[in-house]
Amino acid sequence: MRERGTRLVGRVSRPVLIERTEGTALESRPTENLPMLQLTPTPLIRLGNLFPRRDVYAKCEFLAPSGCFKIRGAVHLLEHLSREGRRPPLIVPSMGNTALGAAAGAQAFGFSMTGVVPQTISRAKDEKLRALGVELIKIAGGGSDLLRHATDIAKERGGYFVHPHLDPNWTDGYQSILGELMHALPSCRSLVFPVGGGGLLMGLLAYLRKNPAPVRLFGCEPYNYPKYARFDHARSTTVADGLLLETPHPVVQKAIAEAGAVVSMVPEADIRTALRDLFETQGLVVEPSSAITLAFVKTHAEELEAPICVVLTGENIAREDHRHICYGEPGA
Ligand SMILES: Cc1ncc(COP(=O)(O)O)c(C=O)c1O
Repeated sequence: MRERGTRLVGRVSRPVLIERTEGTALESRPTENLPMLQLTPTPLIRLGNLFPRRDVYAKCEFLAPSGCFKIRGAVHLLEHLSREGRRPPLIVPSMGNTALGAAAGAQAFGFSMTGVVPQTISRAKDEKLRALGVELIKIAGGGSDLLRHATDIAKERGGYFVHPHLDPNWTDGYQSILGELMHALPSCRSLVFPVGGGGLLMGLLAYLRKNPAPVRLFGCEPYNYPKYARFDHARSTTVADGLLLETPHPVVQKAIAEAGAVVSMVPEADIRTALRDLFETQGLVVEPSSAITLAFVKTHAEELEAPICVVLTGENIAREDHRHICYGEPGA
């Protein structure tokens, strides 16, 4: 049973659509008898079919619980709050994957949570969140609007505002991605990853500050919707729906400049081709926000020092939508 309706939420001035799914899955409750959430290292595979003559690997974060690397941020934050004996309701701004990670974590740790998501949320993410019984507040607007609304809602409800890009209690959880990679492939020289708001980037940089290593970081943004790369063209839509944020964070801009990290723009057609290549040649189904990394390697392979590793961050895409993006079939 679902309750739907358009309502004004507190001081939020624009009408927002609230969807609630009945159920106790994400109610705050005592910690005994909770399901365990054990994070194990994600597989590192060599993309030998796509690159028979180059050492190119993929860190398969899309195989993590919730289908995305965000679970690492969620577990890190929830362990921190649990250690402090705090159990505030979590208010989570998200294009979908952050909320999915937070929901999986909240369920395991016994927290309640509310996702603040765009009305245009992709169907796979929407369906998975509903299946988890998450309260969703859907708003018109993009990533920066989500952050603003979630801040207001957290204040009104006395909740914990989860900032997936700037809260180190969340982003430090991503350090283990590089920790696992350097353990499995210490010779890695180039790490290629997607950039949305920059939380993943912040986590990777935090790891390298503590554990210096000769690995260069290459962030990828859609050409159609850049933030941190220098650009002077008009933005338009992109299939990489996890990477949308209108206003870049100055803290992230500063961190990129200080670390000398490279953020490049990847054309839409290359993202689609990479998505199809990963499927047809390596048998991997991921979302476009992940395939962007392969697209970058394909066009910059000669400039990147090997071994190269791409982070395949998520797989939360409806299979019909995946087919549509790969082959232009109706469905999306
Ligand atoms: C699949 C996927 N990859 C990459 C990112 C980018 O992460 P960040 O926003 O921390 O830069 C996101 C963000 O939602 C995502 O969903």
